[in-house]
Amino acid sequence: MPSATLSCSSEATAQISVKTMQDLVSSLNQAMGDSGLGEDLCTVRKVKQLMHSYMSQSDDWAQHAIYQEGSRYTRNLVDDGNGKYNLLILVWGEGQSSPIHDHAGSHCMMKLLAGELDEQLFAWPQDDGSLALRRTAPLRTNSVAYMHDKIGLHRIANPSSATRAVSLHLYSPPYNMCKTFDESTGVAVQSSCAAQRLTNVLSYACSSGAAADSAMSRPPQSTAITSI
Ligand SMILES: [Fe+2]
Repeated sequence: MPSATLSCSSEATAQISVKTMQDLVSSLNQAMGDSGLGEDLCTVRKVKQLMHSYMSQSDDWAQHAIYQEGSRYTRNLVDDGNGKYNLLILVWGEGQSSPIHDHAGSHCMMKLLAGELDEQLFAWPQDDGSLALRRTAPLRTNSVAYMHDKIGLHRIANPSSATRAVSLHLYSPPYNMCKTFDESTGVAVQSSCAAQRLTNVLSYACSSGAAADSAMSRPPQSTAITSI
């Protein structure tokens, strides 16, 4: 989240607890109302708290964690936030990673639910096209990472060759197109970053984050858009 000295109302900073994904969606709708996330950093902080308060339980999120075999991770739409945000669950195959990408000017919050993920943070391309890697850091389970174009660009990767990963993402305002960047040249292209609400014909039977991995290989009925 952009750093700023905030003086938010107690209502905006109250400790919040959400137990289920359904609770989270209800609380997000209430927090963002008709506006979504804009320049009001108190609302951004409140939404980040809501995301943080959701504790990963695979039996709660497994219905959304559909994985489609292929070269890309799978983007599952959990809720479209009445047009004010998109809440997604991404399932990452072993060793899969995103391209380096921006966030179309939106706020991005992400939370690791299971497995391992690393974030590589890049500066925007310099005049010579180079992309400077600023840092690489692992995401911690249940912590919420914040990203915005004002911070830079990033790439998310599953470093494990043995385990899939699952992450929860919120984007507001929602968007379907973003820019992806060639690491060696810095050249950007418009890419689809849309998600779909997939229907899984088989129920999952996973009881923990680690165990969830083995349950994320059933093919969905519909096809995900996995351009990034
Ligand atoms: Fe991202």
